[in-house]
Amino acid sequence: MSNDPLFRPLKVGAVELSHRIVMAPLTRMRAAQPGDIPHELNAEYYGQRASKGGLLITEATDITAQAHGYPLVPGIYTSAQIQGWRAVTDAVHAKGGFIFNQIWHVGRISHSSMQPDGELPVAPSAIPASGNHMTASFETVPFETPRALETFELADIVADFAQAAVNACEAGFDGVEIHGANGYLLDQFLRTGSNKRTDRYGGSIENRARLLLEVVDAASKRIGADRVGVRLSPWGGFNDMHDDDGSLLWEYVITELDKRGIAYLHVIEPRADFTSDTAPLDADAPDAASSFRALFRGAFISAGGYLPDTARAAVAEGKADAIAFGRPFISNPDLPERVRVGAKLTAHDRSTFYGGGREGYTDYPTLPQPVEA
Ligand SMILES: Cc1cc2nc3c(=O)[nH]c(=O)nc-3n(C[C@H](O)[C@H](O)[C@H](O)COP(=O)(O)O)c2cc1C
Repeated sequence: MSNDPLFRPLKVGAVELSHRIVMAPLTRMRAAQPGDIPHELNAEYYGQRASKGGLLITEATDITAQAHGYPLVPGIYTSAQIQGWRAVTDAVHAKGGFIFNQIWHVGRISHSSMQPDGELPVAPSAIPASGNHMTASFETVPFETPRALETFELADIVADFAQAAVNACEAGFDGVEIHGANGYLLDQFLRTGSNKRTDRYGGSIENRARLLLEVVDAASKRIGADRVGVRLSPWGGFNDMHDDDGSLLWEYVITELDKRGIAYLHVIEPRADFTSDTAPLDADAPDAASSFRALFRGAFISAGGYLPDTARAAVAEGKADAIAFGRPFISNPDLPERVRVGAKLTAHDRSTFYGGGREGYTDYPTLPQPVEA
């Protein structure tokens, strides 16, 4: 067994990892058009980042056309998309790696130019996020006021998530990560700033958590709880999120997730602002991993502003079982190997994060030659 805590095996639901360096979900806007279809370039990108016994989580993936909120983001609801993802999962499995599909519905973080029939985006309540968003043609415009979903529509959204989980398994994924973070639909339901509903899905913490938990239950029923992970961003402010509950909301949600025996819980630390590379980590931000680790018995993944040494310390202290890296995985396709041998990390180029082709996507260098253990 390795002396390095990052290189000890870890059971994550139905899969057994051989190390604890996870690739965080990263939207890169490079699906083939028309149809938002994953293609060979995406397979090459994920294949480059796969490692034996390592876990990758895909970019957020639309569960339906209504779930769509950014141009060039892939889906998992058509047969062409499922087939496209098959090349991705094959490339990862060929290297002995594992891959989960992050499935999302963006809710109000969309624009009518990207919605079926040009309709308004949907949300728990008719409250726009503050600030600007992009249109289908990359214009910057203020957020539109979304349409509040009717209660009867929520059962369809639950079923759409469950079907996406089934589709992901058909595409060869090892499981799904339900995107409950970063101000998208499920987070919009959780938080008081965006949810003013008066039905069973609004008001109390229990009511606001209902949609997320119904989605988890429905997906678990279809593919098994041991293939379902959930991502949350406790206290996160991205996409104009805020709430009045302090820790109580997160404690309730995480305790409920624990009861369900899901594969893993993935929390984003609020200290890191991934939209900036110059903002320092917020030393005053609450520490999500320390706050919630004890409430969840499955695998606990923490993300947000980690470097190899801080990741190693967090796992050694038992704050988390595994660490997800976002930006460092963009620019270091062989990140686990670099961490293992202590090699220098390549810096990322933010200008090529979203959209485009190979540049800044599949052309980051790997170490010249593998270093033997
Ligand atoms: C380019 C980019 C795209 C991202 N896309 C997603 C996404 O699709 N889903 C998600 O949950 N988080 C997304 N995030 C957040 C990352 O998963 C991660 O939580 C964040 O970058 C902090 O980790 P880091 O400091 O290691 O980069 C994205 C971040 C970046 C920089």
